[in-house]
Amino acid sequence: MSEFIKVSLEAPLCLIRIARPEKKNALTSPMYAAMTAALAAANADAAIRVICILGAPGMFSAGNDIQEFMTFAKGGALGPEVVEFLKSLATNEKPLVAGVDGIAVGIGATLLLHCDYVVASERTNLSTPFASLGLVPEAGSSLLGPRLMGHARAFAMLAMGRPMPARQAEVVGLVNEVVAPEEVERQALAAARDIAARPAEAMAIARALLRPAPAETLARIEREVVLFGERLRSDEARAAFNAFLSRK
Ligand code: COA
Repeated sequence: MSEFIKVSLEAPLCLIRIARPEKKNALTSPMYAAMTAALAAANADAAIRVICILGAPGMFSAGNDIQEFMTFAKGGALGPEVVEFLKSLATNEKPLVAGVDGIAVGIGATLLLHCDYVVASERTNLSTPFASLGLVPEAGSSLLGPRLMGHARAFAMLAMGRPMPARQAEVVGLVNEVVAPEEVERQALAAARDIAARPAEAMAIARALLRPAPAETLARIEREVVLFGERLRSDEARAAFNAFLSRK
């Protein structure tokens, strides 16, 4: 579906790897569609117990492709593949582990709020410059962010766009472990195997108890999607996209 998303089934794990290094792993519609399909397939496969999302060395993801944001702006809304992916994060039922090294911007940071265990490298910096781009928080982060870290920290991160280094993300509870870059995958896979080794039914119930009700997250995502679409059409957003795309 997308050459930039590599899915490998290594039961009991499903590995989803973002692999578009020439664009810092920026995400396009086919990439979102491939990840949505991988999540759905993993959820439907009894042999898969844990899903693990990985990036490339030095880059987890630079967020949504800004060229594609321009296309969405002309259409007046986020693309359906993006929206489906966001919803599939909210309704995913299997433990989700992420291994994050380096760049993690926009959805590359907010999707971590849907993960159950996150390993990040020392050089990871989570960045959500929504307001600088004329945009608003997405992926349910306006609900999950303040709930996790409190309003003040969430405001600094998600409204002011202040980058959050991995060590700070660990303190606020967004990241479980901070390790050397070359250890990220090993540690993420070790955590995934640890989860997979435990009784599956009990794990599923515990996870569902710990996470917010999917309906609540879905409702917030739907609200954010409407507002995000309006912001995409704004002069502020167009100016920010043009500035990025025309920089030398
Ligand atoms: N969308 C589209 N292309 C992107 C991109 C994105 N989100 N992020 C990076 N790229 C592209 C660059 O345009 C560049 O392409 P080119 O080589 O064809 O010119 C390539 O990836 C390398 O990026 P570059 O900016 O040179 O790397 P860097 O290491 O100096 O900076 C970032 C990395 C992530 C800090 C910087 O690229 C950036 O700020 N990207 C935008 C992030 C963003 O705002 N995402 C949306 C969040 S809602």
